[in-house]
Amino acid sequence: MAVTKWWEDAVVYQVYPRSFADSDGDGVGDLPGLRSRLDYLAGLGVDAVWLTPFYPSPLADGGYDVSDYRAVDPRLGTMADFDALVKEAAARRMRVIVDLVPNHCSSAHPLFRAALAAGPGSRERARFIFRDGRGPGGELPPNNWASSFGGPAWTRVADGQWYLHLFDAGQPDWNWHDAEVRALFEDVIRFWLDRGAAGLRVDVAWGLFKDPDLPDDPGGIPRDAPSAYHHRPELRELYRTWRAILDSYPAGEFPGARTAVGEVWYDALGTLRPYLLPGGLPQVFNFELILSRWQAGALRAAIDGVLSLAGGSRAPWVLGNHDVPRPASRYRLDEGFTPDMAARLVALGQRGAEVGARRARAAALLLLALPGSAYIYQGEELGLPEVTDIPDDARRDPQFARSAGRRPGRDGCRVPLPWARGGPGFGFSAAPPWLPQPDGWGDYSVEAQSGDPGSFLSLYREALRLRREHPALGAGGLRWIDQPGRPAALCFAREPGFVFAANLGGAPVPLPPHRQVLLASGPARGALPPDTAAWLSA
Ligand code: NOJ
Repeated sequence: MAVTKWWEDAVVYQVYPRSFADSDGDGVGDLPGLRSRLDYLAGLGVDAVWLTPFYPSPLADGGYDVSDYRAVDPRLGTMADFDALVKEAAARRMRVIVDLVPNHCSSAHPLFRAALAAGPGSRERARFIFRDGRGPGGELPPNNWASSFGGPAWTRVADGQWYLHLFDAGQPDWNWHDAEVRALFEDVIRFWLDRGAAGLRVDVAWGLFKDPDLPDDPGGIPRDAPSAYHHRPELRELYRTWRAILDSYPAGEFPGARTAVGEVWYDALGTLRPYLLPGGLPQVFNFELILSRWQAGALRAAIDGVLSLAGGSRAPWVLGNHDVPRPASRYRLDEGFTPDMAARLVALGQRGAEVGARRARAAALLLLALPGSAYIYQGEELGLPEVTDIPDDARRDPQFARSAGRRPGRDGCRVPLPWARGGPGFGFSAAPPWLPQPDGWGDYSVEAQSGDPGSFLSLYREALRLRREHPALGAGGLRWIDQPGRPAALCFAREPGFVFAANLGGAPVPLPPHRQVLLASGPARGALPPDTAAWLSA
């Protein structure tokens, strides 16, 4: 299928800047560190880099609490570093996507401080969601909404009013019914696009608008139907405005048509439908490879669901990100991701690690063979496992504290990358990293894997090389190949001349007819062993 926009078949690499590479020896990754590793990313063969927030932030939520939307956190570098990053990436034909965080800011944002100072009923408070409390003296929160991180979604301020935060108390929600808030974000979007960003990843794209009546939640968190704070109809018109801004940038020259990819979590895939209507956000993640069980029938149904909804160009594929346990650990559980999974993985430790690693290799070949665009979270190409033994006092994710330790949180997938076999920080930093790296981390390092043809890194490099060269890969469709009597087989053809085959069961499965094995995640001679995938030419 002819690709008209670069993002329709792009492979995007997600960088969590604080954990990628540290240039100045303070234990925290930074933009110069990322710049120094651009050759690594170009060698891997990705089309773009998405950076999670690198803006000034008190770090109540790893940078998703932004105190200045138009600046670089001094601990991570300068605006000149950002400009140089865009330029140096472009010299390697790579684009830069930045994270837009519109649902909330930081409680240290000057406008929130001004709202606190100005008091009830003020213009300043109208930019956020302040209300009087319920009960005698207003001591109870205005409604029963819960924070996604645990505890109530309301915090009381000194004058007795409460403010809404769907996440941490350090992340007050903006009032999206306020025209100034809309204007502010339009400026922020233009600011980064003007500086050369090729697109935006839109944080909490399902949120933003709240029913001004703030009705109580009827029970549970309804993630699929529009609710008082999920998937509100007002989003449609807002995203049309943003799309017009994106489309106002020239598509004819590098970096090409600007994109925005929304983060919308759901229980049922159909929830994405309104977001994918024409004229709205160009793209919305599909989380099917995260939510599905490791089972051929379940994955086939999930893939069909995406293809019939919008296709993988508008709804890119991902195996993981900085919010979910690493695939190499997650897949050994035979089940789709749920928020309590991290706790179970901590209880399991590294037991069953080989099964997880085998499946993550097969999943990588699936990810990169599916029609459309794919995102790789840093460290997936190294097969990093979830780190399950982070000491309690080293945990940084607010989920841990807000759940009184019941939820270990997301630190286990944010541990700084190992670049070298040994030495301080395994090549990440000269100082102890901001999250501790486990013993043996150097065995996963870029250095340890680079010369080894059987390594994860070699598998990713080769898959990305083949993906660029093979005319069947990238955007388009697929045709399922049935293997009667083999329920564990997951096989499809892509034209011209490409076949994907995987065995998700416990006994060997014969390879479908083919001319040549192009690449395999494990031994593939005549048959696929359990949890193995192969790319074949037909
Ligand atoms: C989604 C981000 O990916 C996550 O890391 C963050 O905690 C929440 N949104 C709130 O911004």
